[in-house]
Amino acid sequence: MGKCCKCNSRLLCMCLLPCMMTGHLLVYIMVSIFVTISYTPPKITIHYIAPGISANSTALASYPLGPFWNLRLEDSALWNQLQHAWDRQHNPILRGNTTGIIRNPKAKVLSEIEDECLSDCMSQCSVPRIHGLDSFPKQMRAFIRSMHCREYPLLINQPGMCRRNSSSYDLDSPLLVMAIKSQVGNFENRQAIRETWGRSGLVNGELNKKGGLVRTVFLLGRQDSSTGPHPDLKNLLELENQKYGDILQWDFRDTFFNLTLKDLLFWHWLQQYCHTAIFVFKGDDDVFVRTGALLDYLNKQWEEHDLWRAYTNETDMNLFVGDVINNAMPNREPSTKYYIPGSFYKGMYPPYAGGGGVVYSGSLAFRLKKVSERVRLFPIDDVYLGMCLHRLGLSPSHHPGFLTFDLPEADRGKPCAYKSVLLVHRRSPNEMLTIWKRLQKMPGHC
Ligand SMILES: *[C@@H]1O[C@H](CO)[C@@H](O)[C@H](O)[C@H]1NC(C)=O
Ligand SMILES: *[C@@H]1O[C@H](CO)[C@@H](O)[C@H](O)[C@H]1NC(C)=O
Ligand SMILES: *[C@@H]1O[C@H](CO)[C@@H](O)[C@H](O)[C@H]1NC(C)=O
Ligand SMILES: *[C@@H]1O[C@H](CO)[C@@H](O)[C@H](O)[C@H]1NC(C)=O
Ligand SMILES: *[C@@H]1O[C@H](CO)[C@@H](O)[C@H](O)[C@H]1NC(C)=O
Repeated sequence: MGKCCKCNSRLLCMCLLPCMMTGHLLVYIMVSIFVTISYTPPKITIHYIAPGISANSTALASYPLGPFWNLRLEDSALWNQLQHAWDRQHNPILRGNTTGIIRNPKAKVLSEIEDECLSDCMSQCSVPRIHGLDSFPKQMRAFIRSMHCREYPLLINQPGMCRRNSSSYDLDSPLLVMAIKSQVGNFENRQAIRETWGRSGLVNGELNKKGGLVRTVFLLGRQDSSTGPHPDLKNLLELENQKYGDILQWDFRDTFFNLTLKDLLFWHWLQQYCHTAIFVFKGDDDVFVRTGALLDYLNKQWEEHDLWRAYTNETDMNLFVGDVINNAMPNREPSTKYYIPGSFYKGMYPPYAGGGGVVYSGSLAFRLKKVSERVRLFPIDDVYLGMCLHRLGLSPSHHPGFLTFDLPEADRGKPCAYKSVLLVHRRSPNEMLTIWKRLQKMPGHC
């Protein structure tokens, strides 16, 4: 009986086992096929579209990141081409071999111009022939023609800004340097800033009164007949500078697409004349900043960094905060100020801090300056900073106190609404004075 049972089960085994295995295989195949079919690629949600475009517009460019295996360099955009050439040039493995890289005729001509002009940046290089350049809009053309120039001489300098010992205080390294992008004609904005949130000197914090030394400089280019019809304000500017000594002016046309130059040249200046600055605020002259609250925030960051430094030997502080914009696409609407044609730049923008103002650490400013030498100029300054940060392997941190898009209309006049605000865009000189006065006595009940 036992013997028969044994042979029975052996028969069963020999019969059933292959069946079961084939069954499993079939199930496995079916499941794999099902999973493959039902898979959809992850959708990238676009949280934000670069300013100037309405979110509902159907005129948006198609999603710019094509499949990588189709992206032939020859078809790529001008900026991407030029950046690619630099990347190869600076690649330690390929270093030294720049021949045979640029195949796009547009880019090729540009690189020839670059060679011609590098030695002589300042003289208006007469550009003989640029194929395809005519297809770019006017301000883009002006940008492309001068995008290899990064050095412009200072017309008005403040070499003593950070050496100056203010009255009895023996402090010379500012906690915060405020670098404010302005234009020659904006006298009223500058004066309102000096009288309110941009006052140079020792400034108290709001909570613990610690505060710190603040130095304010205004970053200007040239605003004269070359940037359109402008009255001659040169003498007035000189007078202003004699009185306040806080103007930095460089010899380039002060246009929207040249704003990136102000960042680069300011870093240069900072390194030379104010390299001990701990933090930098960079902003526009039409924002309102609660400087006291900002100093409280920065003091806290600095203390935390000190603790951190005691544990690790990390001396660099990588702080970069603002109103961060992720997944932004270039603006493809030709009628707007921010328009970037697809033939100039392809791809998404890296995360960047938009509009109004940002705060970063002094040591990061110098790292940004260094890395910017390997990033082609980009006409939109905020995006350019994002690109440089990206190259450093960093991304900007979002701080809810930076309000690029302002408070709700109904709250703008209420002091309490400003309680958690560090920066708000945009305010006229009159509004700056009004808000400043009201905020001096922030009601206790807020
Ligand atoms: C965009 O669409 C939303 C809803 O679809 C609508 O409420 C809003 O008014 C639209 N904005 C513009 C600028 O058309
Ligand atoms: C440089 O690159 C070109 C084209 O890619 C190649 O023909 C040439 O041999 C390279 N030269 C050196 C020195 O590697
Ligand atoms: C700056 O400080 C030094 C000593 O700390 C002093 O000798 C000098 O007079 C000061 N200069 C000004 C302009 O206050
Ligand atoms: C930027 O400034 C330079 C020097 O003044 C000028 O040649 C160039 O056209 C300007 N770029 C733009 C876009 O205005
Ligand atoms: C920090 O650096 C000092 C001197 O360079 C060294 O003696 C110390 O061990 C370092 N500490 C750490 C935590 O790496």
